[in-house]
This record gives sequence, C-alpha cells and structure tokens, in this order.
Amino acid sequence: MIKNTMTSLPLSSLTLRLATREEAIQARKGAFSQWGRSLSFEKYLARDAIMDTLEFATDGKMNTWVLALRDNSSHPFVASCETYRRDSLVMRPGDDAPSGAISYGIASVFTPPAFRRNGYAAHMMRLLHRVLSPASSLPPFPVEIWGQPPPPIPPGVKAGDALFSVLYSDVGPQFYKLCGPVPGADGWIVCDPWSTIWDIDDSIDQHPGSSSLKWLEANDIFPHLQGDAWELATRVLPANAAASGGKVHVAVRPSREQITFLTARYLLTLPTPPLAPTRWGAAITSDNVRQSSYIVWAPEPHPHSTLLIIRMRCDSVRTFSVLLGAAKQAARDFGLKHVEIWNTIPKSGWMADLARKWGGRRVRRSEHLPAIAWYGRDKADDIVWDLNERFVWC
Ligand SMILES: CC(C)(COP(=O)(O)OP(=O)(O)OC[C@H]1O[C@@H](n2cnc3c(N)ncnc32)[C@H](O)[C@@H]1OP(=O)(O)O)[C@@H](O)C(=O)NCCC(=O)NCCS
Repeated sequence: MIKNTMTSLPLSSLTLRLATREEAIQARKGAFSQWGRSLSFEKYLARDAIMDTLEFATDGKMNTWVLALRDNSSHPFVASCETYRRDSLVMRPGDDAPSGAISYGIASVFTPPAFRRNGYAAHMMRLLHRVLSPASSLPPFPVEIWGQPPPPIPPGVKAGDALFSVLYSDVGPQFYKLCGPVPGADGWIVCDPWSTIWDIDDSIDQHPGSSSLKWLEANDIFPHLQGDAWELATRVLPANAAASGGKVHVAVRPSREQITFLTARYLLTLPTPPLAPTRWGAAITSDNVRQSSYIVWAPEPHPHSTLLIIRMRCDSVRTFSVLLGAAKQAARDFGLKHVEIWNTIPKSGWMADLARKWGGRRVRRSEHLPAIAWYGRDKADDIVWDLNERFVWC
C-alpha cells in the first residue's frame, strides 16, 4: 500500500470520543466503498439506519467512536469504529457458577483513504481499551507519549465496564495485536480462526432424517436461544472450566440480539426482490426445549456462496447427522455452494470424525479472524473463549 503524502497529525494531538450523529453517518458514508458490496449507496445507508433501530443497537448498546483532534477544530475525524455491548459470562477457577459480565464487539474499523498509513487506526484501537474497560483494569496511560487520555465517558453512556472485547480481523493477526493499551502491550489476540466447510454438489448425501425435525422460522429460534443461554450457564461453562483446570472461561451469552443482528443484516443486504429465507434453522425437539438439539443459519451469497451456521447445539451422532443434513438441504434450496461453521467442531473426537465422514474439511480462515482483548485481573494466557462462533460476529 502506498503511504499517503498528506501531513500527518501528531498522535498526541488526537483523542478518542463518541461520534456525533452527523459524524456517525459520515463514517458510514465514507465506508460505503468498503462495505457497500452489492447494495446501492441509498440502500446501504437505509440498511444501517434500520439496523440502528433494532434491539442489539438501541438503549445505548451501539456506539460509534471517532479519533479526532482534541481541540474539536474543523478538521474531520481521521478514523472511526463501532462497538456493540453484550451480556456475557465468566467462570473462574473455584467459582461455583458463572457470573455475568459485559463484553463489547468491535466493528467497522475504518480510516478514510486520504488519512491512511499515519498510524491513526492503530492509535484509535489503542485508545479504545480506555473507553471500553475500567481504568483500574489497565496500566497507567502514557501521557508523556500520547498526551491526555480520552475524555470521561458522558453520563448515561454505557461503556467503561468491559471484562473483554472481541473483533474480527480482516487485516491479518498482527494489526490488532500491536494495538495494546500501552506501547509494547498486546491488544487483541487471534483465537481459534477455524472453520469446517462442506461443499454442496449435486450428489445427495444420505443424511438421516427424523420425524422430530422441525424447520425454524425466525420467531421459533428464540426459545432455543434461551435454553441455550441457560445450558451455557448451568452446564457448558462449568463443565468446560472443570475440564480445563485452572483456566478462566468466558462466553458471550447467546441471545436474540445477536441472531436479530445477523438475520436483519442478511435480509437487508439481499437483492430486491429478496431471497428471504423463511427457514432460519431446524430443531430436533424434545419435551424440554432447553435440551433440544438445534441449528441456526444465515445465507451469505457473497462473497463465498455459503450457508453460514450461526449456532448449533447437538450432543449425539444422530442429531448432528440430521441437523447437518438439514443445513445442506437449506444450502441447496438457496442455491449456495458451501455450508460453513466456525469452531464448534473440535479437532478430534466423534464430532470431528462425523464432520469428515459427511465431507467436511477443517480450515484455518484467513479472514474474519476472531480476536480477544482481556481486561480482567487474570493473565490473558489463562483465558478460554467458549462459544467463539459466528453468532458473536459483528
Ligand atoms: C485497515 C485500516 C483501518 C488501517 O487504517 P490506517 O489508519 O491506515 O492504519 P495504521 O496507519 O494505523 O496502520 C498501522 C500499521 O498497521 C499495518 N496495516 C495498516 N493497514 C493494513 C492492512 N490493510 N492490512 C494489514 N496491515 C495493515 C501496517 O503495518 C501499518 O504500519 P505502517 O504504515 O508503518 O506499515 C484502513 O486501511 C481501512 O480503513 N481499510 C478498509 C476497512 C478495513 O479493512 N478495516 C478493517 C476491518 S477488520
């Protein structure tokens, strides 16, 4: 990439603050060339305006941040990003049960082309730790290098309480790692960027069916998510923590907010007339919805013609085979060429064997690399991110 030739602003003259409404819209307009994809400019802006009104963004859960001159001069902001607040869980060694925690998902990290390669995005990300997490969880701010820290969060703005934050790097593993809260400290560390992918061809696999299989429409998903959140807190995190011995386990709690985010984003990005799915997943019902096996997906025609499995819970050879068969069927119905799931399928064990038997290949992704920054008192090396799956993506 060519280094830009505009005079760069000293990093110490810049600060991170909440965008005004106009700046947030400006940031989106500027990023259209990057994320507009198949949408017209108008549809892209309309999509995001609708997204702003949905449950994952309202009540202060979504914020846009800008890196701008401290003196609020007429110079435009030089980088921007968005954050989404999420209910999460943490379980430390010795805990009887997980506790609630807050995490943030970070999205839309962007520097306008004219300002690139001046260190602005990296500096914005370094400062972002300071507004997401409590000051007590970070080393002292290096005033002598970066000037004064970002201004205090205005009253009523929900921020400053993160136990961890996550993002999905499309610029490799190093960029965000180097963005620590002080020079030399780690920022976001890539964690398990694994996918299992099944190619869909014309041959029909002999996946078993089930008389208990039920297709899920959008509203049918939510009870399964509630069951999932319950299972995560009462069974999955405690079991994982016990098995790893001494590690701290964290997870974003599955909720309708994340699923609404993904389904709305896909629906609002689809061409007109929309190829709107009515089937967003499938479940093998049991009397207790908490224990039902289920799968939720979203079609992503661009760029890889893939049906993405957002979340799957199943605990037997039979339920996995049936649910995967349902996902492949849905991919065929949408005319998609692949089915993909993030993590979920471990490297070895019965599920890995079965995934392979049904034609799956495990790949290390080079895009959307999940990365986590940790703000707790425990060592970052001791953190295990459970349910590091597509449903957390933003
Ligand atoms: C990626 C992006 C935000 C970087 O913004 P920037 O302000 O130019 O970045 P910085 O100047 O802070 O870069 C710091 C270092 O990161 C690295 N870096 C910068 N852009 C990079 C990229 N696209 N890929 C990999 N590394 C990159 C470089 O090592 C750079 O240091 P150098 O200029 O001394 O070589 C910007 O190119 C952009 O907006 N791209 C389009 C949107 C996008 O891809 N966002 C990221 C989504 S995860």
